[in-house]
Amino acid sequence: KSIRAFAPATVANVSCGFDILGFAIDELGDQVEVTLSDEPGLRVVLIEGDGGRLPYEAEKNTCTVAIQAMLDQHGFDGGMEISLYKGLPLGSGMGSSAASAAAALIAANALLGEPYDKKELVNFAVEAERIACGAAHADNVAPSLLGGFVLIRDYHPLDVIKLPVPKGLFCTLLHPHLELNTSDSRSVLKKQLSLKDATIQSGNIAGLISGLYQSDFNLISRSLKDVIAEPTRALLIPGFYELRLAIQRIGALGSGISGSGPTIFVLSPSRKVAEEVATVGQEVFAQIGLEVDAFISEVN
Ligand code: HSE
Repeated sequence: KSIRAFAPATVANVSCGFDILGFAIDELGDQVEVTLSDEPGLRVVLIEGDGGRLPYEAEKNTCTVAIQAMLDQHGFDGGMEISLYKGLPLGSGMGSSAASAAAALIAANALLGEPYDKKELVNFAVEAERIACGAAHADNVAPSLLGGFVLIRDYHPLDVIKLPVPKGLFCTLLHPHLELNTSDSRSVLKKQLSLKDATIQSGNIAGLISGLYQSDFNLISRSLKDVIAEPTRALLIPGFYELRLAIQRIGALGSGISGSGPTIFVLSPSRKVAEEVATVGQEVFAQIGLEVDAFISEVN
């Protein structure tokens, strides 16, 4: 018996919510097929779309690490074979490792008769993030599993909260053809936060969440600011500030680094503005000689 599942790309952090906020993107993502086997243990039997770069070893692959964390708790002693079909580029900041882990868990959980709900699966998926980048952050895996906008209120234990999303909120992802791996982009973060910056960041997180509850695009726009990760990480992304200026002129709500980058997300109050952002984004990056892929999704 086999089950194939899909899990979407995600935008983690959403500017002010470092490690605690994320949302899912429609259609773009990874697929994983899990097949029950008589031979005990987990085996990755196929990986497509990764250019031969992802590991097949069960203790290194995010699909098997996530499923193993689930089976350690569940007590299943059979075998599973895993095929991974990558739709997401590696090192892009679109939650590539998270989408693989989430799709693997959805398929394996379904094969076992769904002993766990989606929120419970987040606990297992973070183990895959620990292997992928050294930090068990949940702001990609939680929205990839649950969809929509998600808050990680706490990590010990995980407290994952689904947030409402205003109608007509669109996201443009601009993926410059660069690669950044999350462990490197985490290593450039400052380790201390001043009281002043903690206050600014808290105000913006509260503002962004209030804006989602009140469907207030203006408040969302004012709150898309980050004094924790963006000041150091933006230096790794050529064109970041030029793009920000350009999208402000055409009525977008704001921009930020998607996860640990280099993909940039831009939120817009309509599909029309989101499409203009894609065009303007391609122009900005062309001027500095970088190719960029643009993708538009309604946030819902
Ligand atoms: N919150 C994580 C980080 C997301 O910023 O490192 C990584 O995609």
